[in-house]
Amino acid sequence: MTNESQPLKLGIAGLGTVGSALVSQLIDQRDALAARCGRAIEVVAVCARSRRKNRGLDLRKTKWFSDPVALARESDTDVFVELIGGAGNPAKAAVEAALSSGKSVVTANKALLAKHGLALAALAERNKAALNFEAAVGGAIPIVKTLREGLAGNAIDRIYGILNGTCNYVLTRMEQEKMSFADSLKEAQRLGYAEADPSFDVEGHDTAQKLAILASLAFGTRVDQSAVYVEGISSITPADLSAADELGYRVKLLGVAVRTQKGIEQRVHPTMVRKDAAIAQVMGVTNAVTIDPAGINPLTLVGPGAGGMATASAVLSDIGDIARHGGAQTAPFGRPVAALAEVRKAPMQRHEGGYYIRLLARDKPGTAATIAKRLAQHDISMESIVQRHGKEASAQERSNGAVPVILITYATTEDAVRKALAAVGGDKVISGQPQVIRIEKN
Ligand code: HSE
Repeated sequence: MTNESQPLKLGIAGLGTVGSALVSQLIDQRDALAARCGRAIEVVAVCARSRRKNRGLDLRKTKWFSDPVALARESDTDVFVELIGGAGNPAKAAVEAALSSGKSVVTANKALLAKHGLALAALAERNKAALNFEAAVGGAIPIVKTLREGLAGNAIDRIYGILNGTCNYVLTRMEQEKMSFADSLKEAQRLGYAEADPSFDVEGHDTAQKLAILASLAFGTRVDQSAVYVEGISSITPADLSAADELGYRVKLLGVAVRTQKGIEQRVHPTMVRKDAAIAQVMGVTNAVTIDPAGINPLTLVGPGAGGMATASAVLSDIGDIARHGGAQTAPFGRPVAALAEVRKAPMQRHEGGYYIRLLARDKPGTAATIAKRLAQHDISMESIVQRHGKEASAQERSNGAVPVILITYATTEDAVRKALAAVGGDKVISGQPQVIRIEKN
């Protein structure tokens, strides 16, 4: 607990883009924050790798630490702000040290929460400290508070979102400029959106970490990244995006958590969404989350998902909560750790929904009939089937005598789709691997 008649004293570990933006906001908005929170907020200590780097901040009166764990234990601070990142040490050890000494923690660290969130929430509970992490998911979008507080009285049926700006940027450029995945990713890297090793973004792992956190808040389950099925966007081609467009869809990398009769399904994969859905309008690096609460229409929150100022805005809001309420007033994941339910990885064979399938088919009489027969044998009903000639096929595809065939199915199971496609493969009427993209109803 902090003494609410005194200024709230912060120790900030990590002075990169987010840490520097946070300190500059705390200085620029000092009076407004004090008025809103009922008390002043002061940065009394910081920890960063280099003290010499010019950050444009006057930190002459601030205590410097080179060890974040020592800063976390500093007795002259009320709140430890962790902006180091990474699931391991020193971030983990520093957060544990702060919570163990009864100090509240504000963190933007999705990797740490997705992996150790449960143990850290238990530690926070035992020590009656706050563990706030609004900035870990969706940047400036207040999605954690929306789920934990704003919708505390609603049962949630489903939550899905564009949680990785890099992937949405790559898909947007591919769709709008007919660029290849590789060229579009190079652009994202050139503009500084993607990481130097972008596989964490494009293979879906960043989205999976954020989804694991949101699923816990939405469904009262234990946060567990290993329960998330993950597939990235590297197999998506401009031809898929053009076909989606013509059929009335867009392709987005979504994180989806949904209540099913067999439990909570958590999955990250390229997803076809109807072009008129709110989430389909979200382009470039912007993030968005749609929540389907039982009994009321869906809500969609849209905003900047990354960047110094966007992330600092969420960190500030968490600090403001502690300033106003003086420490732990809400369980980090919305309910006590002991009340969070076990969650298992949902087997994707059981997934039910519509599918987009793109095949390279032999351009001979009877091919479409063979494909249709195999789908019918697996009880799959087709909403549409389109055979595309000429320029839509690549030169190599045309020289092989292959034409793209695009199918949209009505709701079926993933198991049926995989078995039907294996049978079509055995019929030797297609070449290469079929492209399969799940359709999300919205
Ligand atoms: N790499 C992330 C993105 C940054 O592209 O959205 C924010 O977590």
